[in-house]
Amino acid sequence: MNYSSWHWIFACLCILTPRICIQGNQSFIEANRNDKLSLPVFENLTEGYNKFLRPNFGGKPVVIALTLDIASISSISESNMDYTATIYLRQRWSDQRLVFDGNKSFTLDARLVEFLWVPDTYIVESKTSFLHEVTVGNRLIRLFSNGTVLYALRITTTVACNMDLSKYPMDTQTCKLQLESWGYDGNDVEFMWLRGNDSVRGLENLRLAQYTVQRYFTLVTKSQQETGNYTRLVLQFELRRNVLYFILETYVPSTFLVILSWVSFWISLDSVPARTCIGDFQGSRRSQYY
Ligand SMILES: *[C@@H]1O[C@H](CO)[C@@H](O)[C@H](O)[C@H]1NC(C)=O
Ligand SMILES: *[C@@H]1O[C@H](CO)[C@@H](O)[C@H](O)[C@H]1NC(C)=O
Ligand SMILES: *[C@@H]1O[C@H](CO)[C@@H](O)[C@H](O)[C@H]1NC(C)=O
Ligand SMILES: *[C@@H]1O[C@H](CO)[C@@H](O)[C@H](O)[C@H]1NC(C)=O
Ligand SMILES: *[C@@H]1O[C@H](CO)[C@@H](O)[C@H](O)[C@H]1NC(C)=O
Ligand SMILES: *[C@@H]1O[C@H](CO)[C@@H](O)[C@H](O)[C@H]1NC(C)=O
Repeated sequence: MNYSSWHWIFACLCILTPRICIQGNQSFIEANRNDKLSLPVFENLTEGYNKFLRPNFGGKPVVIALTLDIASISSISESNMDYTATIYLRQRWSDQRLVFDGNKSFTLDARLVEFLWVPDTYIVESKTSFLHEVTVGNRLIRLFSNGTVLYALRITTTVACNMDLSKYPMDTQTCKLQLESWGYDGNDVEFMWLRGNDSVRGLENLRLAQYTVQRYFTLVTKSQQETGNYTRLVLQFELRRNVLYFILETYVPSTFLVILSWVSFWISLDSVPARTCIGDFQGSRRSQYY
């Protein structure tokens, strides 16, 4: 049951019995607080913590270090000019408000993300994206004693990729995956790749039907918008079309079809049924093919 439905129940109680209402209200607040502070260490950590304020609020920008794992690129569509990828997005930043004693790090339940400040990263030029929710939301929060927070997500996203098809099918396409903060500009949040070009993994192991990933690299750029200047992380990768796939899929069948059509010339003039048959067959195959 979510917050609002509880609210309604308490509202009903209020109307029926005013005394229970006050108690109910209090216990409701307490239950809510217990919910939040159920983790022993977490209690002292979040004392005076405001999740609506970024780390170093009012001070120097918070630096978010990113790494990416590409789990799959499932469809690269020339007609829609986009590709669909499943990625593991890991963001690390330092929040001095969450420093605690000891060497340990601990992993929090993903639902506790709601009580922490997290960056509002978004995927530029994505058409649709979703976070995987089976069996629970696929995210992870890990706190280190020095205040470092690791926040990992598994996302499937469809991203626009403008393709130049003038050399088709001998073409190489360059696609990008760009990440940027939605609201915080460069004065508040700065992005960086944690390990430069090595921040992205999984691309070299990808097996795509029509393409091979030729090379990829990471960039940090600035994007200038009406609302401010933002840092933008770019992963750029080049996809080379496998010509062999194309030869087998298109050229070979077409060639055989044409060769087969010549057979009718060798059949003697008298055997009309055979000639008609092959001609018909050709015609129907052709119309089917094109
Ligand atoms: C219930 O709690 C809210 C604050 O959460 C308070 O504004 C409201 O007055 C309370 N209702 C009653 C009946 O005490
Ligand atoms: C939280 O802080 C209080 C007072 O500062 C202390 O007594 C308590 O042991 C702390 N709890 C944990 C789990 O550190
Ligand atoms: C932290 O770990 C290091 C080595 O792993 C150890 O030497 C040190 O004593 C630990 N510090 C605390 C406070 O546990
Ligand atoms: C914090 O601790 C983690 C894990 O021990 C380490 O990887 C990271 O570099 C540390 N961060 C800082 C700012 O020291
Ligand atoms: C990443 O790779 C590109 C292309 O290979 C190169 O130009 C760039 O300098 C590399 N960046 C880093 C940080 O190594
Ligand atoms: C963004 O950067 C440009 C050029 O560096 C600068 O002229 C402009 O004032 C900046 N915009 C904001 C909102 O800071």
